[in-house]
This record gives sequence, C-alpha cells and structure tokens, in this order.
Amino acid sequence: MGRTLAVVGGGVIGSMIAWQAARKGWDTTIYERDPAESASWVAGGMLGCMGEARPGEDTALDLARASARRWPDLLTALADPTIVVATDTVLVAADTADAHELATRADYLLSRGLAMKPLRGRDIRSVSPGLGSSVRGGYLAPGEGAVDNRALLRALRTAATQVGVTTRTRHVTDLDDLDADQVVVAAGVGAGRLWPPAAIRAEKGEILRLRRPPTAPPPPDNVIRARWRGRLVYLVPRADGVVVGATQYEVGVETDPEPRAGGVADLLTDAIEVMPGLAEYRVSEVGGGMRPVTPDALPLIGRLDERTVLAAGHGRNGIMLAPITAELVVDHLDDTVDPRWSATLDPRRFT
Ligand code: GLY
Repeated sequence: MGRTLAVVGGGVIGSMIAWQAARKGWDTTIYERDPAESASWVAGGMLGCMGEARPGEDTALDLARASARRWPDLLTALADPTIVVATDTVLVAADTADAHELATRADYLLSRGLAMKPLRGRDIRSVSPGLGSSVRGGYLAPGEGAVDNRALLRALRTAATQVGVTTRTRHVTDLDDLDADQVVVAAGVGAGRLWPPAAIRAEKGEILRLRRPPTAPPPPDNVIRARWRGRLVYLVPRADGVVVGATQYEVGVETDPEPRAGGVADLLTDAIEVMPGLAEYRVSEVGGGMRPVTPDALPLIGRLDERTVLAAGHGRNGIMLAPITAELVVDHLDDTVDPRWSATLDPRRFT
C-alpha cells in the first residue's frame, strides 16, 4: 500500500493526526477550509477530564484519562512554553442545587479512582482570590489544566511542517477528489457532509475573550468552572486576560455559528458574578462555534472503508481527546489498532 495521506480538517485533531502520521512516515497533506471557522479556534482549551465527566459515562472518562496520559510527552515534543496556561481547575457552585450537582460529580469521580479536593469558602478564596462573594464552595481538580488553543494550533502546524506535512486551503466536498492513498476525515461537524451516515449533530456555543487592562485585577491562575444557578460558565486564563465560555444548545442541522445576544449576556452576567474583577476587562472577541456531538458522548474513530478513516464527533472535549485520537487513527492507518477502542468507537455503531 502507498503511504500518501490526506487529512481533511486542520483543527487541533486534524493537525495532531497529520503530525503524528508524518512522524510515522506518511507523506501527509492537510486540507482545510478556513482555520478561523474551526471549533479548535474558538475553543477555551480546557483539558477536561474530571471537569467534563458525567456520572455514568464511564467509557468517555476512560478515554479522556487515556488521552490525559499522553499530553505531557506531546507538550514536551512541541517545546512551546506559551501553550500551557493553567495546571489545575477549581470547580465552584452558587446555590444549593449547583453544590449538589458538584458533589454528585465528585462522588462519581471518587468511585472511579479520581479524587477532587473539597474547598470551603475561605479555602477556595485562598486558591483563587478573585472569586466573588456568591461562590459558596467547590473542589480543586489537581493537575487538570488548560492550553491556549491558538498557541497549540500554531505549534502543531510548525511541528507538522517540520516533519514534511503540507497544507492546502481547499473546501473538500468529495473525498474522491483527493489524490492520496489514504484519507482521514477530521472535519468536526463537517464530517457529516462528507460521510452522511455519521451520527453527528451540531451543538452551538458562544464564547468570549476578555482582555485585562493594566489597572484591572489579574485573571485567575487556574481554570474556574462554575455551575451557576443551573447554567455553566468557565474562565480559562490567557497571557492577556481570560476566555469566558460557553453556552451550549442544539441547533439541529443549522451550522450558523454567529453568536446570539442572549447567550453573550448570560456569559457576561455569570462570569462577572463568579469573578467581579472581570467587569473592568475589555471585550476583545465574541465568538461562536459548533461542537460535533454524538448520541453516546463518544467520538467516531475508525475505518469507513479500505481508504477512509473517520475521526469526528468529539463534542465538548476535542482538544483533550486529540492525542488519543491521533494515536488511534495512525494505528488504524497502519492496521495495528487496539481492538477494545476500535469496537467502542466504531463510526458505524449507530448505522
Ligand atoms: N470544552 C468546553 C466547551 O465545549 O465549551
């Protein structure tokens, strides 16, 4: 079999796959439409394992943990100190129902061998001094950090280029048009257009980037994930401020990422209540994106036919899951994939 590879999609997952495949000897080309349209570009960059866990979704947690174990070596290989922006996460609650939800999650994680540290009011403010008076308590998820998604994308592209990957700006509408022995589809919600049976639906999210002026209080050192009167809001530090995310709702077949005013208003209200100093920050960007979501909250990773491998449907956790995804895809290309994951993540499991 020849060793030319086309990767459709230039987000974090597509770029990670291209980099790892080229390191294994594949002559690789990335085909991407507009990098600023990818979910990776608007993302917050949290490496969510405990923070994204939901009671009962054991396999999703196992997959996230497997990917978490691969991150340190990849970051060492990328050798870019601007990528990691936080190394711990603080989960906080506002009212009794929020606190109950967090406690349920902590109990579930403990049953799976992952301990979060409970933090009462005073403890929580010593870990994260800028939190507002409405924060009742929470948990520390040690070692659960975040990356600057855009720095990561740049570093991945540089690393990929250094091992011979080329990039073409092209909107691929038919995989037969690609001149390559093997094709990987890593196009997020766009994967459904290239392989219509894909069980992927779009969930829209708004996200903000706030810049800190010199006189304003500093951004948090940690990721802050708040369960806030039934809504979710997270703060992810950046060198120049903070990313505030994210709303989440179903949009069916529509793929219009333009932010809704109501979603932006909710994010700002909640973020400023969680961390009042953010009221002084400047709104430098209002963004929207589409999460590619599957019915069982697990991605679709595997062979569609002798020439094509799919890697899509990573929902809220695409950046976190990029390392294990890239490894599994390259194993599929080389026919060495772990059978446990190939059955569980088989893209045809719903069709
Ligand atoms: N990774 C968090 C989100 O999708 O909003």
